[in-house]
Amino acid sequence: MSRVYNFGAGPATLPESVLKKAHDEMMEWHSTGISVMEMGHHSKEFASIVEQAEVNLRELLSIPASYQALFLPGGGTGQFAAVPLNLGRDKAKFAYVHTGQWSGKAIAEAARYGEVQVAASSKEQGFTLIPPRSEWKFDSDVAYLHYTANETISGVEFQSAPEVGDITLVADMSSNICSRPIDVNQFGVIYAGAQKNLGSAGITIVIVRDDLIGHAHPFTPSIFDYKLQANEHSILNTPPTYSWYMLGLELEWLKEQGGIAAVEKRNIRKAEKLYAVIDESSFYLNKVDSAVRSRMNVPFHLADDTLEQAFLTQAKEHGLVNLAGYRSIGGLRASIYNAMSEEGVDKLVAFMREFEKTQG
Ligand SMILES: Cc1ncc(COP(=O)(O)O)c(C=O)c1O
Repeated sequence: MSRVYNFGAGPATLPESVLKKAHDEMMEWHSTGISVMEMGHHSKEFASIVEQAEVNLRELLSIPASYQALFLPGGGTGQFAAVPLNLGRDKAKFAYVHTGQWSGKAIAEAARYGEVQVAASSKEQGFTLIPPRSEWKFDSDVAYLHYTANETISGVEFQSAPEVGDITLVADMSSNICSRPIDVNQFGVIYAGAQKNLGSAGITIVIVRDDLIGHAHPFTPSIFDYKLQANEHSILNTPPTYSWYMLGLELEWLKEQGGIAAVEKRNIRKAEKLYAVIDESSFYLNKVDSAVRSRMNVPFHLADDTLEQAFLTQAKEHGLVNLAGYRSIGGLRASIYNAMSEEGVDKLVAFMREFEKTQG
């Protein structure tokens, strides 16, 4: 077996020790004689997996007791609908910041349930920046303001949560959750699919402040109703049990790494190394405003884009895979989530220098 460095945007690389643990426990989990995949979702064994995952998530993110941590199906896309459905019954007017393709999708979905005000947009600038907070415009009576903390495709990341006063702040952290410390108290809702920074596809983390629960539209599907799910400890129906278990393993691993502050330090170093090789010559290009470049997804182009295929082919020969940009955008992209080792980034950087030398 030879594992490669996987720079895919998601489902993304997992820590090798997590995969090994899952491998070791595949046939039999903790002397039960069965695999986690075969476990009943109401069993006491599965309950222990679920409880530990929540304890660890709460500890890692310092989630206050006044917030629920829900583990739901449906991915980030499910939450594009669940947020306006749960928060928009009394005020069907929402503000969204449009900084890329994913916030665009969130806006389109929310528009099915109420009036969307686009508070600010960087569409005209090709999603290469975040409009300054002083230029955002939205009514003071919106139900919430939504932003995408990290735009996975265009590689634009908020470096801190925007200041919105009394307005409920909602963040899509699908591609940067647990990659940097946050203050949960600043948010009404945080959501993220697990498949990039926290494990495998199928499970979505939703952290929601207690007072926002219990106001869903009556036509909200039960599995997306925060109150119904909170009442059932996120087991309203058969949940994605194996993904939940994988999430638990990844949270354990995060703790072993020294927690989020320690992981952030490594993430900063990884991103700095990659942007440095892009910036040091005109062979590679990244057009994102340097103040808001993503630490997780680094999109780049070759000045001579006819070399792109050769780049991808040779990278693969070096064990560096999934470096193609998003399918509708093209170019190249390296996703360097928590689980991408610094060694993997070093190898990529060395390959990029070598490729430039031979092709540049
Ligand atoms: C920032 C962001 N939000 C939402 C989504 C959609 O998530 P899902 O595929 O889990 O529905 C993605 C997927 O890549 C994403 O990157």
